Amino acid sequence: MKASVIHEFGDTEVLKYEDVPTPGVRPGHVLVKILASGVNRLDHYIREGSVAPELPFPHILGIDASGEIEALGEGVSSFSIGDRVITVPGFPVEKNEYSVRPAATAPSFTLQGLGTPGTYAQYLETPQEWIIRDDTSLTPEETATLPVVLASGVRAVKKVGGVKAGDKVLIHSGASGSGSMQIQVAKALGAQVATTVRSDEKGELAKRVGADLVINTSREDFVEKVLEWTEGRGADVVIDTLGGDVLPKSIDAAKQLGVIVVFGFVAGIESKLDIRNFFFTQKQLKGTLSGDKEDLEWGLERVKEGKIKAVVGKTLPLKDASLAHKLIADNKVGGNVVLLPWAD
Ligand SMILES: NC(=O)c1ccc[n+]([C@@H]2O[C@H](COP(=O)([O-])OP(=O)(O)OC[C@H]3O[C@@H](n4cnc5c(N)ncnc54)[C@H](OP(=O)(O)O)[C@@H]3O)[C@@H](O)[C@H]2O)c1
Repeated sequence: MKASVIHEFGDTEVLKYEDVPTPGVRPGHVLVKILASGVNRLDHYIREGSVAPELPFPHILGIDASGEIEALGEGVSSFSIGDRVITVPGFPVEKNEYSVRPAATAPSFTLQGLGTPGTYAQYLETPQEWIIRDDTSLTPEETATLPVVLASGVRAVKKVGGVKAGDKVLIHSGASGSGSMQIQVAKALGAQVATTVRSDEKGELAKRVGADLVINTSREDFVEKVLEWTEGRGADVVIDTLGGDVLPKSIDAAKQLGVIVVFGFVAGIESKLDIRNFFFTQKQLKGTLSGDKEDLEWGLERVKEGKIKAVVGKTLPLKDASLAHKLIADNKVGGNVVLLPWAD
């Protein structure tokens, strides 16, 4: 089969389009013919070597995919050949940890395509527990964008952030893969959403996915704007995908006792925090990682109700995976990037 393989960490050019053996199918596993693979910023971090430094080479990157069942391993009864499926983004490797909640706290938790070959390929072999039936009416390109951003968005906004109807929520990077999905999750829960972008073009996308207030941080101060929007109170919940110098300001934008969910680190991995925020105003800083099958299923129900839509920003053939990574590294795409493994 064709796959996009890395043999070393490095810049986007280390992604090589190659012939590799098509995987066999072990008992309890399924072989999925991949119709579309989603690209995440996390793949870019893994490729450059800043996450998962122990990765064995050669390696096929990729967490997200949609496809159809090509072959069933012995003992697989929950799927049939031809079923449309999507990947679950992360899972415990050890069967006795399958019921650990949140799944990402299981000692053997790994991301799809981290401990095993990933989805930048024509086929994926995976345990039957870590794919989910795709009964949405979306295209394969659309469903391929969902696993990471939808499952982690539901986890971060609903479960960790505790967002509920009537809340005022700040979500950063409203045109990013994660931000554009988190806005929709918060709106599906009945919240009002303010979001940040750095260009008017991305602001348009953030509005289209439902943001009530779009703040362009190239000319506006988001703390001031959020305080104005909440009549001086601060946001009930802030989802911070940016970290770095932005996180302390996200804490300033939250209300007393408000929750700040640390989701990502696009703007930097280190932040300087004023500890007084955590006792005088008793704000709560919380971490989140991935999402599980239950989070994905909740999100897919909202997709079927039409409350959440996939945001496809760019579609490319699999052989152009290095270009896909370059577009992400340069912040050139709104929404998500998708690779097509059977396209020329
Ligand atoms: N915790 C979890 O479970 C989880 C799950 C998925 C992703 N993540 C993390 O979440 C983060 C976002 O991932 P993603 O896939 O949504 O990324 P993405 O689609 O590539 O979007 C990131 C956006 O950040 C903005 N940006 C870049 N540099 C910035 C800076 N210095 N200051 C402010 N904004 C900046 C850009 O938008 P503009 O050009 O509009 O500003 C860019 O489009 C990553 O750190 C990722 O690892 C965490």
